[in-house]
Amino acid sequence: MKILLAIAALLAVAAANPPPNQAKVICYYESTSYVRESQARMLPLDLDPALSFCTHLVYGYAGVHPDTYKMVPLNENLDVDRSHANYRAITNFRTKYPGLKVLLSVGGDADVEEEQKYNLLLESPQARTAFINSGVLLAEQHGFDGIDLAWQFARIKPKKLRSTWGSIWHGIKKTFGTTPVDDKEAEHREGFTALVRELKQALNIKQQLLSISVLPNVNASVYYDVPAIINLVDIVNLHAYDYNTPTRNPKEADYTAPTYKPQDRNPLLNVDSAISYWITSGAPSNKIVLSIPTFARTWKLDSDSEISGVPPLHTDGPGEAGPYTKREGLLSYPEVCAKLINPNHQKGLRPHLRKVSDPSKRFGTYAYRLPQDSDDGLWVSYEDPDTAGQKASYVKSKNLGGVAIVDLSMDDFRGLCTGDKYPILRAAKYRL
Ligand SMILES: *[C@@H]1O[C@H](CO)[C@@H](O)[C@H](O)[C@H]1NC(C)=O
Repeated sequence: MKILLAIAALLAVAAANPPPNQAKVICYYESTSYVRESQARMLPLDLDPALSFCTHLVYGYAGVHPDTYKMVPLNENLDVDRSHANYRAITNFRTKYPGLKVLLSVGGDADVEEEQKYNLLLESPQARTAFINSGVLLAEQHGFDGIDLAWQFARIKPKKLRSTWGSIWHGIKKTFGTTPVDDKEAEHREGFTALVRELKQALNIKQQLLSISVLPNVNASVYYDVPAIINLVDIVNLHAYDYNTPTRNPKEADYTAPTYKPQDRNPLLNVDSAISYWITSGAPSNKIVLSIPTFARTWKLDSDSEISGVPPLHTDGPGEAGPYTKREGLLSYPEVCAKLINPNHQKGLRPHLRKVSDPSKRFGTYAYRLPQDSDDGLWVSYEDPDTAGQKASYVKSKNLGGVAIVDLSMDDFRGLCTGDKYPILRAAKYRL
């Protein structure tokens, strides 16, 4: 009897605490992919082949109402109205995948109306309460297992260009404006800590999860008080990419998500540095999740660009939009893949991109095509299954909590590239 009780007790403990070494695979779902066109259009049904690889699914994104500070769906029609009801369609996947945890994420740079509200909310206890009460209710009503805060803090200023391009830089500043500086950093840091504490309390009552996603180019050491919040959150997703983008750095292309510091670069702008901040501040490594982007950033090369293709190199703004995703400076993984295939037997098509992989496995892969006649050149920094696998190996070697795939809609979810669906997700999963 005693032995049976002991075994029962052991089993109960095992059920309550899943083995700590079970790596998380956190799959982000960008819900606006529903309204993309043609090959890029993703329906909730298209998620199915991914979900046996995912431990968590994060629905992106809910927003903040600028007047009431309530957490609200950003696309009512798509998210909650009866015709589509994607919130429900997504959380219903748990019937088929019972272990899957589905979180509703708020912010994520998808909430662009009156962005100052993310700061104002942190300054007001009443606003925080309105946000928390509405958020917990919204998540519960639609069957989510918790909330992810992808808070839209002010960003690190883009780096200045090398002095030889000083005059060019001056011209750009006029066009793009300067990033607003946050003159209440300390207040926002404290407000965020309070928000996490209060939200955790409210979620605890419902036994729901709380995760945070640290967005690209947010200075974590300014806004995230690690010792104060780390025990309150279940997961910390570090979106350690977009260190260089064609929007922030239109005149210079560089690796967007290097694992380690390339020579002569800012020592803080790489994956390893982002992770070190959390670890040295006392975060347990198994709470930290490294995000791997599935999309590429692209720049246009012109006659002033260095012909070696080696970054950093001079560029002339964002590369042209992809055929399906249709946003300047951005390509999905299958769109990159299509440009790497040599179509030399087809007349009239542009030359393919030359891929340059990184045998050191430290900085990432890029591909480029120099300008030719009337054709613009293109420079592309991207992840592929190889580099995603390398990042997963890094995660494993550091005993981190796992990887996040940001996001599923930009992975090759149709299997257009090699026939395998979700190649980046799979490659990362297998190397964990
Ligand atoms: C982030 O802020 C700290 C000060 O808290 C500063 O030392 C550091 O340089 C900043 N990081 C970047 C990349 O600007």
